[in-house]
Amino acid sequence: MIPRETIDEIRARCDIEEVIGQYVTLKRAGSNFSGLCPFHSEKTPSFTVFPASNSFYCFGCGAGGDAITFVRRAENLDYVEAVELLAKRVGVTIPQDSRGERTRNGMTRQRVYDMNLAAAKFFRSCLFDPAIGGEGMRYLSEERGLSGAVIKRFGLGFAPNSFGVLQRHMNSLGYSDGELIEGFLCGKSQKTGKAYDYFRNRVIFPIIDTAGNVIAFGGRVMDDSKPKYLNSSDTPGFKKSRNLFALNYAKNHCAEQMILCEGYMDVIALHAAGVENAVATLGTAITQEQARLLAKYTKKVIISYDSDGAGQNAAARAMRLLGEVGLEVRVLQMSGAKDPDEYIKKFGVERFRKLLRDSRTGFEFRLNAILARHDLSDGSEKLRACAEICDMIAGVWSGVEREVYIAAAAEKLGLGIEGITSDVNRIRAGKLREYRKKEASEAQASLRNYGDRVNPDSARNLRASAAEETILGLLLIYDEYRALIARGEIGLAAEDFCTEFGRRVFSEIMALQRSEGGYLFELLGQTLSPEEMGRLARLEQKRRMLTENGPAVLQTSIETLRQSVRQEEEKQSSAADFFARKREEMRGGQGKGPGGA
Ligand code: GTP
Ligand code: MN
Repeated sequence: MIPRETIDEIRARCDIEEVIGQYVTLKRAGSNFSGLCPFHSEKTPSFTVFPASNSFYCFGCGAGGDAITFVRRAENLDYVEAVELLAKRVGVTIPQDSRGERTRNGMTRQRVYDMNLAAAKFFRSCLFDPAIGGEGMRYLSEERGLSGAVIKRFGLGFAPNSFGVLQRHMNSLGYSDGELIEGFLCGKSQKTGKAYDYFRNRVIFPIIDTAGNVIAFGGRVMDDSKPKYLNSSDTPGFKKSRNLFALNYAKNHCAEQMILCEGYMDVIALHAAGVENAVATLGTAITQEQARLLAKYTKKVIISYDSDGAGQNAAARAMRLLGEVGLEVRVLQMSGAKDPDEYIKKFGVERFRKLLRDSRTGFEFRLNAILARHDLSDGSEKLRACAEICDMIAGVWSGVEREVYIAAAAEKLGLGIEGITSDVNRIRAGKLREYRKKEASEAQASLRNYGDRVNPDSARNLRASAAEETILGLLLIYDEYRALIARGEIGLAAEDFCTEFGRRVFSEIMALQRSEGGYLFELLGQTLSPEEMGRLARLEQKRRMLTENGPAVLQTSIETLRQSVRQEEEKQSSAADFFARKREEMRGGQGKGPGGA
């Protein structure tokens, strides 16, 4: 039995697109990824990965589910084996004994933390020793203008210009060369295989997680030499994509909004100036995991990247990732300085606070980017800009939001609201149609080729089983419905369901909902087959596409389900007979040839 925490941990640590990306070449498609389905042969991609819901689904063959389900199918493993494989890949150890130590290559995570803490202390003592760290101290205080208090608060340090002082010091504390190498404090010489200090003649920025553990280091040169920064690679305790610099401090000041920067120095300068809700990524572009992490702590993120082209491109990407996890996103527009650090030095923190207040919404940012790319005095250019903008607005979920954006776009383009509205609606209708068509052709394919193997009972009462699927789809997505049903505020029980599959899935969902740890999609795989998980992924995707009005849909579906089940008991519907007969034919009639009857 795999402990619940292990599943939680794996879920937190692996991005589904990363897991699947090891098997399938994925291309970004809006907020999702698509690629050629590994589970059936196809020439145009109908396989889609949805990072926001941690799931995948193939519109062609109906394969779908979570990362664990994917690995089950791809590697032909059972649930436990798939979890073990994923755990190994992301460095989670499944506890073999009750102590539950997490180790990799023999080193526990706690040991890495202890080792890093000792190293941080060593770097700090070097910085504060004028004979050793004089140059580092001069750089930080004079060139970068940091006060002694700020240097201490961030635990900054100095790595001497030597290949072995840290190593010898750490050896004397009982850390072996192997451990130093594994923890990325030392490199390993290719020629001799010996360990040598990785950070040399650099000022050191310790990376501290929200629990206060030193998880990694960044080291900056004190001149213009390259590389400017060295950062620890991922180690047992630390994955760059899962942490943020200064989150340990910012987490207490960010309930309303968080400022996301590119550089350590930007964050330090902001904190030093009293703006304590600032964090930075760790020398990499922001990841889905970091976006989710931010969403745990705050409602709104103000992206304050460098003002150059690279920074603004990175901002566009960050905006998308942050928007996907439901954060309100704004982008700071800064001129006259290359980054927040320089801006504050030049213009003072009050001007920076004003920039924060004036920051633009993600929509404005994207709108302006589109407008900037087109010459609006040229008629056909203007139409192209308008088409791009309408397409962007058509992808917005909320009707109210669409209205606000349409008004803004109309003003910028100097066009009427009605015209833009009707274009947006036309594009939206097209998108929905396309989706329904995919759905329909898939339904046909599954009927023609296999019958409904996952839910054979469904043919007995089509209306009822459709309602049932709607209900399950809603329950998969919305916690509040599961809660309402668990508390009995919405009356619905397993007996209400008309198919064995529906009853079983409903019971599993509600059992998890009532369990101590609560519901988690990934845990359904413990009792459901990959094919069944695929069906659930389909129901979920269908709901996400089509639901604008969850509560009403849920109530109506429950009524339809009950009504249809009653009617069914009174008289057999001829359509159901028809489908049942078809199914029988297919079961008996043919081996493997496609199409068949
Ligand atoms: P200053 O130039 O000192 O103001 O540093 P900064 O923190 O503002 O850095 P910059 O804006 O140049 O880069 C942003 C972040 O990218 C840094 O904080 C580092 O995390 C990372 N970074 C920059 N240069 C390098 C490099 O050469 N190698 C690596 N691995 N990361 C880098
Ligand atoms: Mn900078």
